[in-house]
Amino acid sequence: MASSTLISDTEQWKELKAHVADIKKTHLRDLLRDDARSQSMTVEFDGILLDYSRQQATLETVGKLFKLAEAASLKQKIGRMYNGEHINSTENRSVLHVALRASRDAVIQSDGKNVVPDVWKVLDKIKEFSERVRSGSWVGATGKQLKDVVAIGIGGSFLGPLFVHTALQTDPEASESSRGRQLRFLANVDPIDVARNITGLNPETTLVVVVSKTFTTAETMLNARTLREWISSALGPSAVAKHMVAVSTNLTLVEKFGIDPNNAFAFWDWVGGRYSVCSAVGVLPLSLQYGFPVIEKFLKGASSIDQHVHSEPFERNIPVLLGLLSVWNVSFLGYPARAILPYSQALEKLAPHIQQVSMESNGKGVSIDGVPLPFEAGEIDFGEPGTNGQHSFYQLIHQGRVIPCDFIGVVKSQQPVYLKGEVVSNHDELMSNFFAQPDALAYGKTPEQLQKENVPPHLVAHKTFTGNRPSVSLLLPSLNAYNIGQLLAIYEHRVAVQGFIWNINSFDQWGVELGKSLATQVRKQLNASHTKKEPIQGFNFSTTTMLTRYLQASADIPADPPTHLPQI
Ligand code: F6P
Repeated sequence: MASSTLISDTEQWKELKAHVADIKKTHLRDLLRDDARSQSMTVEFDGILLDYSRQQATLETVGKLFKLAEAASLKQKIGRMYNGEHINSTENRSVLHVALRASRDAVIQSDGKNVVPDVWKVLDKIKEFSERVRSGSWVGATGKQLKDVVAIGIGGSFLGPLFVHTALQTDPEASESSRGRQLRFLANVDPIDVARNITGLNPETTLVVVVSKTFTTAETMLNARTLREWISSALGPSAVAKHMVAVSTNLTLVEKFGIDPNNAFAFWDWVGGRYSVCSAVGVLPLSLQYGFPVIEKFLKGASSIDQHVHSEPFERNIPVLLGLLSVWNVSFLGYPARAILPYSQALEKLAPHIQQVSMESNGKGVSIDGVPLPFEAGEIDFGEPGTNGQHSFYQLIHQGRVIPCDFIGVVKSQQPVYLKGEVVSNHDELMSNFFAQPDALAYGKTPEQLQKENVPPHLVAHKTFTGNRPSVSLLLPSLNAYNIGQLLAIYEHRVAVQGFIWNINSFDQWGVELGKSLATQVRKQLNASHTKKEPIQGFNFSTTTMLTRYLQASADIPADPPTHLPQI
């Protein structure tokens, strides 16, 4: 496919469109009778099992999806990513998050330079620094050990690290190595988030890590100034050097802010924000909490999937299969959403992270060449851990709209519980639901079955489940740092695969800019109205009315208020 051709103009896309009619005639109840089909829709790699037999797809569908992949030059595009070509064309950048977890001896080039030595230079610096902080050889301004870390950052500088932190908290090895330590995340510019994060913390024992790729993000910089004030008002301005470090690509702005560049941990413009958890963005705060050796295992898990994506034939390539099936669901079957349903409370922050990875990457309206797309790209991601979600939104998934689901299960619980006399262990109880839900969605329940069960006639329609609702199941052997890295990389690559097929740029995010610039206009107005009583101007009737009400209600705030920090 020439790069300016829309994928929807190709014969392969049209063939899949025509094929939808064949699939609409099938029902998963019948498709699942074919064991050979199910067997060939099960793939295993490095301990992870993917079962996609509950997709509304036949082997013919999968064959046609592989042809679409060929038409989209998927293999070449993956290769171009790994080769450091500037595939993020609107920002003229390479996309090399795979280099962040490459082994020390790997060679990955960006602009003619092997970037792996630079990656390891920063990893070594993190290892050394985190060991000094954890051992107490780096102490705060009053000589006390820094046991608590607040990581300030938002979006990609927050969600990935939060996901990994939440997933590791209950892993026995990670929890043992984090004993006596705390890691908190300050993301929202809402002062309530500041209050929540500093409550119970003592500046003397707290290290603040400011994480921002650009070091210009309004929310992060105001939160950083707020915590700088929190530290310096308690310990004096010179304490900032001992209590604040930074992670950024913009070391000039880090220094301007007042953080010693020696205490800054670099990353590079070839790392997209939402793909940055394996850079210092995640590795620094997570190593401070869990120790570098645990986080190195996480990187190795991600690296294992990187190699799999790059070299495995598509028939057995987990992220490629998942990506193609998502395209099938979104663009051909017309299902715009996807539910991410991990049967592990430790994965409670997976869906919020994937929301950004997926929706900021693929929520685009034009092809990579700027041609408006005649089809919808991207999908609406949401999710909750099972079984909580079952008691929340599963009703809609079972009897309302069709939402393709990702069921994620774990064989060995991080925290097994057995009670004498119970029918099964607590983890078995959880996993009973993991195994049951995909079949409930696929098979449904017919009026005939209900009649046989003597359901009163007036309830039959209400109790009928149409079934034929697609899902994939991913079974992980356990949930240690390595497996968490694998899971992260599976999702990152799956999203990239979808973008490569849709021929969009999955690595820019121009859609977030307009709101930011309008907020600047409002910020200026609020300042002018507060300080100089200037009238509201330049806004439409609706915004003017709301602003007037807001300003009237806050008229008691002095024009130049003294510093005030949360008091809870
Ligand atoms: O929301 C837009 C965005 O640019 C994200 O892509 C990014 O992850 C986030 O803001 C934070 O940016 P930074 O790391 O530069 O502060």
